[in-house]
Amino acid sequence: MITILITNRKGGVGKTTTTLSIAAEFAQRGYKTLLIDLDTQGHIQYGLGIKHDFEYGIHKAIQKEDIDIKLIVQKSKMKNLYFIPANINYNSSLLQNKKTLKKLLRKVKDEYDFCIIDTAPMSDTVLEMAILASDYVIVPMKTEYLGLVGTVQFVKIFYKIASRLKTDFKLLGVLPTFYSKSIKEHKETIDKLASIIGKDKILPPIRKDIKLTHIFKNGLKSIAKEHSRGKDDYTLVVDEILKKL
Ligand SMILES: Nc1ncnc2c1ncn2[C@@H]1O[C@H](COP(=O)(O)OP(=O)(O)OP(=O)(O)O)[C@@H](O)[C@H]1O
Ligand SMILES: [Mg+2]
Repeated sequence: MITILITNRKGGVGKTTTTLSIAAEFAQRGYKTLLIDLDTQGHIQYGLGIKHDFEYGIHKAIQKEDIDIKLIVQKSKMKNLYFIPANINYNSSLLQNKKTLKKLLRKVKDEYDFCIIDTAPMSDTVLEMAILASDYVIVPMKTEYLGLVGTVQFVKIFYKIASRLKTDFKLLGVLPTFYSKSIKEHKETIDKLASIIGKDKILPPIRKDIKLTHIFKNGLKSIAKEHSRGKDDYTLVVDEILKKL
C-alpha cells in the first residue's frame, strides 16, 4: 500500500476535492483504494454522498489505539473505493500518540493499493501523525500570490517537521488549483513557484470547474462518469503521480 497525504495549512485550497478526485480515479483504474478523513469537518463523507454520523471514525480509533481498524473501514458507493470517516467535531487535541496512525495503517497495508489521507487546514499533532504514516505528500495550492507565499512557507515547515520526526517522505508535488490559463497572474504564480521548488515538483494544474463543486452536494459518484474539465485535469494528475511512483 502506498500512502499519499493531501495537505496544506491554508483552508479552501481544494484539499478534499483533490483527495476525493484522485481516490476515485485510482479506484476507476482498478486500484483498491482507502480514503481516510483526518479532518473533523467530515467533508470526505459528504463527498461520498453519505450524510449520517459514524460512531467509530479514525479519530476514536487513534485515541483507543487497540481498535481493529478493519472493523471501521466503510464501503463507498464506488467499486474499489473504501473509506474511514472522521469523527465529526472530535476534539483532536486529545490525540497525542503520533505513531498510532502509522501502526493502525500497517494492519491493512496488504489489503489496499493506495491510501489517500485528507487533512484539516492546520499544522498540528494530527498532521504530524499523518506525516509519520505517509510515503508521499501532495500540497494543493490556490493559484494566486498569497497561495504561493503560504504554500512555500508550508512546504518549509513540512520538511522541518519531517526532519524532526526523523521520517522519510517524498513531496510528489504542489498542485495548483483554481487555475485559469487566461489569467496572466496564474501563469506568473506557477513560474515563480517553479523557480523556488523546481518545475519537476509541480503537478499539472486543476482548472476552476463548477462541476467539481457538485461533488459535495450530489456525491462523487454523480460526477464520476460525467465528462468535465476538472475530471480531465485530475486524470492527468493521476497519470503524473503513477509516472513518479
Ligand atoms: N477546481 C475547482 N473549481 C471550482 N471549485 C472548486 C475547485 N476545487 C475546489 N472547489 C470548491 O472550493 C471549495 C473548497 O474546496 P475543498 O473543500 O476541496 O477545499 P479544502 O482545502 O479541503 O477546504 P478546507 O480547508 O475547509 O478543508 C469547495 O466548495 C469546492 O467544491
Ligand atoms: Mg477539506
